[in-house]
Amino acid sequence: MRPSTVCVAFLASFACSFPWLKPEGIETLLNHPEAQAEITKRLTEHEAIHANQRETRQLNTGLVGGLVTLLDGTLSAVLDNVLGLIPTNEAVKGLKRFPEEKHPYQAPGPTDQRGPCPGLNTLANHGYIPRNGIATIGQINAATAAVFNMGADLSSLLATGGAIDGGDIISQKMSIGGADDRVGVLNGALNKVLGTPSGIAGHGKFNEGDASATREDFYLNGDNISFKPELFKQLHQQAISKGNGTYNVDAIKEHFKNRYAASKAANKQFYFNLPSSAVVMGAYYFIPGFFSNGTIGAGGIANEASITSFYGAKPTKEGQWSDPELTYTHVPERIPEQGWYRRATPMTIAEAVGGILDVYLYALPPMGGSGADQSWVVGPANIPNNPQAFSCFLYNAIYANFPSELFNSVVLVETVVNALSGLIAPGYKALGCTVNFPDATGTGVSQYDAWSKMYVGDAKYKATGSGWYKTT
Ligand code: HEM
Repeated sequence: MRPSTVCVAFLASFACSFPWLKPEGIETLLNHPEAQAEITKRLTEHEAIHANQRETRQLNTGLVGGLVTLLDGTLSAVLDNVLGLIPTNEAVKGLKRFPEEKHPYQAPGPTDQRGPCPGLNTLANHGYIPRNGIATIGQINAATAAVFNMGADLSSLLATGGAIDGGDIISQKMSIGGADDRVGVLNGALNKVLGTPSGIAGHGKFNEGDASATREDFYLNGDNISFKPELFKQLHQQAISKGNGTYNVDAIKEHFKNRYAASKAANKQFYFNLPSSAVVMGAYYFIPGFFSNGTIGAGGIANEASITSFYGAKPTKEGQWSDPELTYTHVPERIPEQGWYRRATPMTIAEAVGGILDVYLYALPPMGGSGADQSWVVGPANIPNNPQAFSCFLYNAIYANFPSELFNSVVLVETVVNALSGLIAPGYKALGCTVNFPDATGTGVSQYDAWSKMYVGDAKYKATGSGWYKTT
C-alpha cells in the first residue's frame, strides 16, 4: 500500500511526509496525558522502593562477566535512571518453575502463525498468547513477563514496533509470523484495498533483520522465518569451542561475528542498520539472557536442554552433544519438559542495551547497507559506547525510523501518536534521555531530515536492502 493512498483515505487533514511528527510534534506526544500518567505512576512506585533493596536486586539481574566489566562504573547510574522500571519485591519472589499444567504444549496447526522469534513461538505453543499466533501488544507484554520475565519497557518497545510496522495499530494486533488476513483494519476486512500487514517477520523494518542467529536473510531465498539447522549447528560449535559447553555470551558473540561476515558476503542486499540491527544483536543476547535455566550471571546456565528445546532444535543423534559435527532437525519450540526455571528479575531495556553493546563492541559490525553497484552506504556515525547514551541513541533511531515505514500498516495518526506516547515514550523519558526530537512545527521537515540522518544515516534511504517499503 502506498502512503499516498492511505493518507488520502484516512488522513486528509494531515501532512503525510512524517505523519506522526506533523503537526502534533514530539513535545505534544510527550505531554500526552497517558504518557504523563504512566511516568508519574512509575516515578511514585520507584520512590516507594527502598534504595538498598533496589540495588541488591538489580545487581543480581545476572549481568554476565563481560557485561559487568563493560558496564562497570556506569551500571548503577544507568539503573538509577531507569525510574519506575525496577521490579517490586513481590515480582521477584524466588524462581518460578515451568512448564505449568494449565499451559500444556501443543504443536501448531496448519493455519497457526509462527515466525522468526523462538520466544514468541514458544509462548504460542503453550497458549500463553493465542495459539493461532495472532496476538495483541497487551497479550505479548503479559506473556513475555509471565514466562520469561521480560520487563514491560522492553516488551512494549518490541511489541509496539511489531504492531506499528507489521500489524494493525488500531486493534494493536500482529501476526508473530508472516502476513495474515486476520490482521488489519476491521480484522482484515479492508486488506484487499489497504494491503495486508506483513507480520513481525516483515523485513527491512524495525524488528526483523539480516545476520540472524538461526534464520537466513530475507534476500537470499525470501524465507527469513524458518529455523535453519545448519546455522544452529554453527551456534552449537561455538557453544563447544567458546562457551565452555554452554550457549553463553561468549558463544553467541562469536556466532554473531561469523554470521555478520557470512551474510554480508552472500547477500547483495545486506542491510544492517539501526534500529533493526540492534534488535538482531539484542536477540543474540536473548539466547542466554532469557533461555538460560535460572538467572543468567547468578547460576543460571544456557545449557543444551534449555536452548535446544526453546529453539526446537532436535539433534539427529542422542548423546552426541560434544560432537561438533552433530546435525539437527526442527520441531516446534517448547518449554523444556524436564523443568526449567525462569530468571529472577525482569530484563529491562537497560540490561538489553548492555547486552547489545557487548555483542556490538565484540564484533564491531559496520552499520549500513549495500547500495547500488556493490557500494556500501553508511548508517549513523558516532554511535555512543556507554549504555545510557546508547539507549537514548536507540530511542532516537527508533523514532527516526518509523515514519518511513508506516505506510505498510494501516495507520491513523492519532492512534499511532497515542500508542507511541503510552507505550514507548515513558521508557524514553524514564531512561533519563534528553529529548531532542526536532520541533515538528515550522521548519520541521528539514530539521527532521538532519535529525534522521544523524540517527539512521543515509543507509536507511539509500541502501537497496532497506527498501521494500520505499514509496516511489
Ligand atoms: C516482546 C515481543 C517480541 C517481539 C516483537 C520479538 C520479535 C522478534 C523478531 C522480529 C525476531 C527476528 C530478529 C532477527 O531478524 O534476527 C526475533 C528474534 C529472536 N527473538 Fe524475539 N521477539 C519478542 C520477544 C522475545 C522473547 C521474550 C524472547 C526470549 C524469551 C525472544 C527471543 C528471540 C531470539 C533468541 C531471537 C533470535 C532468533 C534467531 O535465532 O534468529 N524474543 N524476535
